[in-house]
Amino acid sequence: MTRSETTAPWPTEGLSFGGDYSPEQWSWDVVLEDMELMRRAGVNLVTLGVFSWVVHEPRDGEFDFSWLDRMLDLLHENGIRVDLATPTAAVPMWLHEAHPEILPHDIHGHPLAPGGRLGWCASSPVFRSYALRIVERLAEHVAGHPAVRLWHVSNELGGGNARCHCAVSNARFREWVAAKYGDVQTLNAAWGMAFWGNSYSSFDEVTTPWGITAHNPGQLLDYERFSSDELLAHYRAEREVLQRVTPDVPITTNFMVGIGTDIVDYTRWADEMDIVANDHYTVGPDPLKHEDIAFSGDRMRGMSKGAPWMLMEHAAGAGSWHPVNQPKTPDEIIRHALAHVARGSDSVLFFQWRASISGTEQFHSAMVPHAGADSVVYRTIVDLGAKLTALAEVQGSRVEPARVALLHDNEAGWALRSGLKPQNPQRYADTARALHNALFQRAVTVDVIGPWTALDGYALVVVPGLFLLSDENARAIEEFVESGGTTIVTWFSGIVDENNTVRPGGYPGILRSVVGTSSEEFFPLDAEQSVALSNGWTGRRWMERMRPVDSPEGAESVADYAEGGYRGGPAVVRRRLGAGVAWYLSTDLDTASLDDLMGRVLSETGVRPAAEVAPGVEAVRRTAPDADYLFLLNHTGETGWARTRGVDLLTGREHADRVVLDPGAVAVIREERP
Ligand code: GLA
Repeated sequence: MTRSETTAPWPTEGLSFGGDYSPEQWSWDVVLEDMELMRRAGVNLVTLGVFSWVVHEPRDGEFDFSWLDRMLDLLHENGIRVDLATPTAAVPMWLHEAHPEILPHDIHGHPLAPGGRLGWCASSPVFRSYALRIVERLAEHVAGHPAVRLWHVSNELGGGNARCHCAVSNARFREWVAAKYGDVQTLNAAWGMAFWGNSYSSFDEVTTPWGITAHNPGQLLDYERFSSDELLAHYRAEREVLQRVTPDVPITTNFMVGIGTDIVDYTRWADEMDIVANDHYTVGPDPLKHEDIAFSGDRMRGMSKGAPWMLMEHAAGAGSWHPVNQPKTPDEIIRHALAHVARGSDSVLFFQWRASISGTEQFHSAMVPHAGADSVVYRTIVDLGAKLTALAEVQGSRVEPARVALLHDNEAGWALRSGLKPQNPQRYADTARALHNALFQRAVTVDVIGPWTALDGYALVVVPGLFLLSDENARAIEEFVESGGTTIVTWFSGIVDENNTVRPGGYPGILRSVVGTSSEEFFPLDAEQSVALSNGWTGRRWMERMRPVDSPEGAESVADYAEGGYRGGPAVVRRRLGAGVAWYLSTDLDTASLDDLMGRVLSETGVRPAAEVAPGVEAVRRTAPDADYLFLLNHTGETGWARTRGVDLLTGREHADRVVLDPGAVAVIREERP
């Protein structure tokens, strides 16, 4: 992987620590207490003004930045830097009243109600002009203020306004489609509109896929692309104003990279950010929360091309948007925060500083809970701040180059959910998470990257459920294998092209020539069903009627189906291709089987873990020109260990060759170089 240097100056010296700060919700005496508590905890960065549009512009065209000036000066006096938000996530009620047409319209064509946030359609020129006016006035006002170190454009673009079906969106979608396809015959062919006789005779007949009907998979996929593009256009418009007025302040927006398919195409958006930033929330019942942190961190690092990225938000405890919202233990607060740093984040930021007492999120956790500073959570925050200070020298280092890449593409996830499939619903990231987890459990570092990224330097490329794949990206995988690499391709990869059209001739479609074999039928399994394989492995979720493996292609069946309708047929196939090896998994191996397979693949490819560790201990190494930092995180309730030599920056203790980790504990070892 080619790693580009980051050019944006980091907003703080050392790692950034803090969170969303909403002093407009509080009286001045509370704000003064905040300064004292922030200093005590070592907070050095806050995100300010995310929802403050009506504070800056209480009435149409009347601007008042006195509150902001006071806050910026106070934070500056207290040595706290500011990630200043453009307030466009929070439409003032006067704007809703004057222009109700800016509201996003749902799938039935009904406007959402005013209130909440992101109550605007990304295609609305009316909203855009009001938004850019406040952004420009704000930027002009704060230009040159020493506290302002980063721009935070809006908030979680798409979180509430990702899809709109208003008249303006429909008109824009028609333009977008016409610009992409040029003429209506090409459009009909691309979307396969001959099916059910839905062909268009003019672009005027094209609509967003609104209402209740079975929309065409090609149309659904393009609508997802269009919606992502419209939000990106909004980001670019705000960015253009900010770059013009404050050219020295870097610009970002907060992504929502976590479980599931992204709402917009963050991997393709990433190059538009000076620093890529993520909001990450673990999901209560997820048994592998720590692996989810690792997976999203590995994705963020793929997006930043190895440069430090920013954890913009996470929670100090419970969220309030799950059915059951459970807090974190102090150990978890520390371990989860440092797990993001281990994977390349140079910040630990929370939503939010002080728990709100009113409003939608009045029961969301915060760095200062409702109970106040005399609380376990705040004391843990103080402890975390001290730990981050001890880790200051880590800032700017990079996770060591990975030998394994995992290909992940939002478009593949969108294609998967666009239209009916053999198994409904199917979550795109599930297969990726399972394969990533098999590597995570073995302490192997993985870059999660778009399939268009150069594959040089990797020994193993994992292709999990990559449903949509272009000819060009498939060719890159083939060339990678031919020149000596190893790939693991799983079921339901390479199935459709960029138009969401099935590639005929057998599965896995465009990857048949890589895996050297193919199948002709899918047999999805229920959640309770599994299938035994001939070598003792177990498959779940999916089976395929594979063609017998023919040796001229150099393929061998490593495991056959041992029961069911496909009994005796190949289930897992391995073949040599050029100087490399390709594996095909036609079923979803359970955790133990996948672990066994991964053990074999890693030993064949010579890929080593970041360190030798006890089971359940996460290990990732960050490196700088003059030091290596091994992050060790014990996610188990047992004592763990790792083999390395050096000093633990968190305790100052020297370790001669082995680090012992208490249950739930973290160590960051500055390793002795030989
Ligand atoms: C998001 C938002 C925050 C807050 C948190 C709650 O990340 O950006 O404003 O709503 O979720 O988890």
